[in-house]
Amino acid sequence: MSMGSKELTQNDSMENGNCDINFDFSKLPDKPRNLNMERHRSLDERSLVEASPGYTSWAENGQRLMDLESVFSPSIRSPFSSSQAQYYEPHPVFVEAWESLRKTMVYFRGQPVGTIAALDNSDEKQNYDQVFVRDFVPSALAFLMNGEPEIVKNFLLKTLRLQSWEKKIDRFQLGEGVMPASFKVLQDPVRNTETIMADFGESAIGRVAPVDSGFWWIILLRAYTKSTGDTLLAERPECQNGIRLILALCLSEGFNTFPTLLCADGCSMIDRRMGVYGYPIEIQALFFMALRCALVLLKQDDQGKELVDRIVKRLHALSFHMRSYFWLDMKQLNDIYRYKTEEYSHTAVNKFNVIPDSLPEWVFDFMPTNGGYFLGNVGPSNMDFRWFCLGNCIAILSSLATPEQASAIMDLIECRWEELVGDMPVKVCYPAIEGHDWRIITGCDPKNTRWSYHNGGSWPVLLWLLTAACIKVGRPQIARRAIEVAELRLAKDGWPEYYDGKSGRYVGKQARKNQTWSIAGYLVAKMMLEDPSHLGMISLEEDKQMKPMIKRSSSWTF
Ligand code: GLC
Repeated sequence: MSMGSKELTQNDSMENGNCDINFDFSKLPDKPRNLNMERHRSLDERSLVEASPGYTSWAENGQRLMDLESVFSPSIRSPFSSSQAQYYEPHPVFVEAWESLRKTMVYFRGQPVGTIAALDNSDEKQNYDQVFVRDFVPSALAFLMNGEPEIVKNFLLKTLRLQSWEKKIDRFQLGEGVMPASFKVLQDPVRNTETIMADFGESAIGRVAPVDSGFWWIILLRAYTKSTGDTLLAERPECQNGIRLILALCLSEGFNTFPTLLCADGCSMIDRRMGVYGYPIEIQALFFMALRCALVLLKQDDQGKELVDRIVKRLHALSFHMRSYFWLDMKQLNDIYRYKTEEYSHTAVNKFNVIPDSLPEWVFDFMPTNGGYFLGNVGPSNMDFRWFCLGNCIAILSSLATPEQASAIMDLIECRWEELVGDMPVKVCYPAIEGHDWRIITGCDPKNTRWSYHNGGSWPVLLWLLTAACIKVGRPQIARRAIEVAELRLAKDGWPEYYDGKSGRYVGKQARKNQTWSIAGYLVAKMMLEDPSHLGMISLEEDKQMKPMIKRSSSWTF
């Protein structure tokens, strides 16, 4: 954990090509139950053309959303809140997980506002006693799926209030729209008051502001709206303003020649130096998804229309760039391997001047004949060939990946099961950086040694993203298999934050126990598999207007 925290005493009011796996997937049920997302076009599928100013009023869309919600809303049926009726016999680990999740709830002035990062009893708490925005997402989804939206609504409003704080690092003022990485509720038993303390990066190790927090906030607001049918929350002026402020930070003009978002190292889930600066896939995929969610949520009033126009243009450019230059499959790899360099002119094939000698050896074996993925990073003379789980799953969920690309990502996961899932789902990235590279890239970080933590560690929280992506691609059996693997150990091991080793066999060196997002990630994965209609909260269907710009590789199977 690299975030520190600084107290701000502000009172706040409440508002090789061969698959070597020997697992018989055909024995598992194939089709997700109730996966009827296809049949119901929803508000989210508002295409970029439809989103053009003047197409539909927001109010109309709101009504459509509510109508459709009656189809998709999870009915209240879980055995985990006392008043609700039991309808299936849950796995004991599932029951335990719900009990544990409830213990992590954080209250502010009597209202639940989030979940603590880890209920850790060790002395070295650091800031795991805070509510992290990114960590709360799987908790929020679990509560929404269980028909308990209140905590999510409170969280959205609370973090929105924090956004309006003045944020300074030394004498430098951060952008208005920055959302906190985390916050904490402080109790003063003597004065009987509660205050909130937040961290926007000014206390974080490395002093990096979280770029992902704002994107997750928008994505969660859309999940809340979709799940509850309550369009009034997003419609509130303060929520509309919150979205505008977040987007103002990323849509501003500058010197950038690419539509991707330029970032500092450590500004997302991987919040330490790991060579993920520049244009990391995690941020680009979240950026894309947040833009699409914002299109759904923004009111098309005078202020909204102009922003919607800018979002639409950026989405076109971003999807073209990502699908063309970030995509890697066997054909692309072979093309890069044969690249000429030093091509000056707009007709250059090797646009970023990537030197073939810089290709790492492992990637040639790793790349299956069928399959592919989005690269970790693409910039001038730079391609990071590492596979990152979160970015690739979000690319699927947001439909940044074309349907063919989404299937190819799943083919890769199946084919490289031992490497990417192994004994604990899922690797945060693959492979680990070692030796000289580790020294240079991480700055000799002792927490990020090879196959540990952010450097090729296995993170149970990623299970929910993998599951959602599998369901979306129509291959839930892959998720089922991963959940079975995780279920064997997670509770027994005390819900660790991460696992170490090439196949994730060891509880992480410095992993917290009772890590909330490990618990919530498992719960969300289970609930989604049980009722795949939950997927609608966190998935956006393909926008037919954003035509795939990349030629299909002959290696893909259809
Ligand atoms: C670690 C993780 C970060 C997470 C935090 C709290 O710093 O890298 O992604 O938000 O712990 O769990």
